[in-house]
Amino acid sequence: MKTVSEIAELRQTIKAWHQQGLTVAFVPTMGNLHAGHIALITEAHKHADKVVASIFVNPMQFGKNEDIDSYPRTLADDQQKLVAANTDLLFTPTAEIIYPKGLDKQSFVEVPNVSEGYCGESRPGHFRGVATVVCKLFNLVQPDVACFGLKDYQQVQVIQTMVEDLSMPIEIIPVETVREASGLALSSRNGYLTEEEKKIAPALSQNIQWLAEQIKDNNDFIGLAKKAANFIDNAGLKTDYIHICHARTLQPASEDDKKLVILAAAHCGKARLIDNLQVKL
Ligand code: PAJ
Repeated sequence: MKTVSEIAELRQTIKAWHQQGLTVAFVPTMGNLHAGHIALITEAHKHADKVVASIFVNPMQFGKNEDIDSYPRTLADDQQKLVAANTDLLFTPTAEIIYPKGLDKQSFVEVPNVSEGYCGESRPGHFRGVATVVCKLFNLVQPDVACFGLKDYQQVQVIQTMVEDLSMPIEIIPVETVREASGLALSSRNGYLTEEEKKIAPALSQNIQWLAEQIKDNNDFIGLAKKAANFIDNAGLKTDYIHICHARTLQPASEDDKKLVILAAAHCGKARLIDNLQVKL
């Protein structure tokens, strides 16, 4: 696996592949890779001849009081995992390479509707930062397909909408969430959890599961979601939000909707955990 930081070298390598008629799949990440990220690489191999990953802790998607400085950076370990998963090329740009003018003086991509509410409300500017960097990375890598984890369900909808709205010729492949045996979704931020917090963190996914069962024969969506939030808080977490939504538009679910998603976020010690579950009625 070749690791490149410079744009010219990245473009050169990918251009040579395209000239040979090879297709390219792309997996953008912020590093500190775990089995969830590697599942994306494995899926990417099913859709193209070459697999490109990126590691870039994107300053534009972190709020002022968020964890960009403490975000785990583990490049050597990440490279080993990517080599083991047969990744062909790793792009590791610096912030100066991606944002040469600085964050405030550069164009951005804002996706309306699906990026409002939920994590968009709790983390103002977050999805603008995600959409902008993913748009830039798409333009640099020019992939045929790109894989994103359903763990970040709202993010997948934001990217899918951006690709549709801006006519980007890229197929977005959503990949199922990889979990621990306890049900806790793997996340780089789980590293912030103490041993005690690790024991209570699965309450988030457990209560989402509970809620999914309840809504099969009770359409008091708001009342049930409130109950689930109380259960999560009683387990020792602090619920940020839990909502039952239309699976594609992310609008609050109505009685007639058949494809739903439960979106939830909760604080557990220093970590902010997110999770979700799709439900078909
Ligand atoms: P990051 O949090 O590193 O995640 C990179 C990709 O891995 C995302 O598509 C995410 O949904 C996926 N992922 C994370 N945990 C997963 C799990 N347990 N199971 C399956 N997939 C999982 O998401 C980002 O980075 C950034 O916002 C990025 C898209 C790279 C833009 O900066």
